Amino acid sequence: MGTFAVIGAGTMGSGIAQVAARAGFQVVLRDVAPEYLDRGLATIRSSLERDVKKERLTVAQLEEILARIRPTTELAEVAGAEIVVEAIIENFEAKAALFRELDALTPPETVLATNTSSISITRIAATTKRPAQVIGMHFMNPVPVMPLVEVIRGCATSESTANYVLELGARLGKTCLMANDFPGFVSNRILMPMLNEAMFALYEGVATREAIDGIMKLGMNHPMGPLTLADFIGLDVCLAILDVLYEGFGDPKYRACPLLRQYVAAGWLGRKTGRGFYEY
Ligand code: 3HC
Repeated sequence: MGTFAVIGAGTMGSGIAQVAARAGFQVVLRDVAPEYLDRGLATIRSSLERDVKKERLTVAQLEEILARIRPTTELAEVAGAEIVVEAIIENFEAKAALFRELDALTPPETVLATNTSSISITRIAATTKRPAQVIGMHFMNPVPVMPLVEVIRGCATSESTANYVLELGARLGKTCLMANDFPGFVSNRILMPMLNEAMFALYEGVATREAIDGIMKLGMNHPMGPLTLADFIGLDVCLAILDVLYEGFGDPKYRACPLLRQYVAAGWLGRKTGRGFYEY
């Protein structure tokens, strides 16, 4: 197998690196500082240890998987990879600067994928000289557990790039489903209005947070209630995606609940800050 490069060792990037290494790829995992890499590798180890406990993986296999991941702060080390997956912060300027660098560093045929949840693939692709080789690979959190990769074709993405990524997804053990490049793609266009509606229900006093979550969990068989899921995703992420939907479609049905905006302003971003709709 070839080399699989992942840029960004946060929650999503470390999950993607884990899945690629487990599938047998040599992985280059790049972040800007050693402490981010250490944190990412610790997350990968503890996620794999769950499988050791369940006897789905031996300790020796866990060590082999970890040994296939080469952490680095040098972007130039991604140059020989067959695929580069970007999973850095959800900010267009940051992604554009990175894609321009990747475009200069890698051979023109290398596929450059982005794990963006809401930024236009077409816009990111247009910052490079190879828009045909740029594509969205939207993994779901937690990456090692969720079976889906939403694959998003930008306006200029070629058929061969799309086919390569579908085949790559299968090698990772994921199911790839294809969407075109419109705001929120499919997953967040449908998920975020539901989470937002749950927030409005709370805001308007229709029910308590526990009742709203319990009704959706027990009544619809969702693994998490919508407020718990929003906290899990991050309220800042939810707000950013809702704003992309609102601006992209110009339709008031996507307006973010004022309670969500207020919590984000307060720094209550969900599980990662210890407080969101719940306290952690
Ligand atoms: N690494 C490895 N395994 C993990 C894990 C991780 N980080 N987190 C959970 N697991 C495993 C557990 O070990 C367990 O495995 P088992 O069934 O074989 O024993 C299984 O997943 C279930 O975990 P738990 O028993 O600990 O807890 P739950 O049953 O509550 O499941 C959950 C946890 C999988 C997170 C589940 O609650 C769930 O599916 N929640 C919804 C997640 C979701 O909707 N994600 C998508 C978010 S949207 C997104 O990512 C897009 C973005 O653009 C916003």
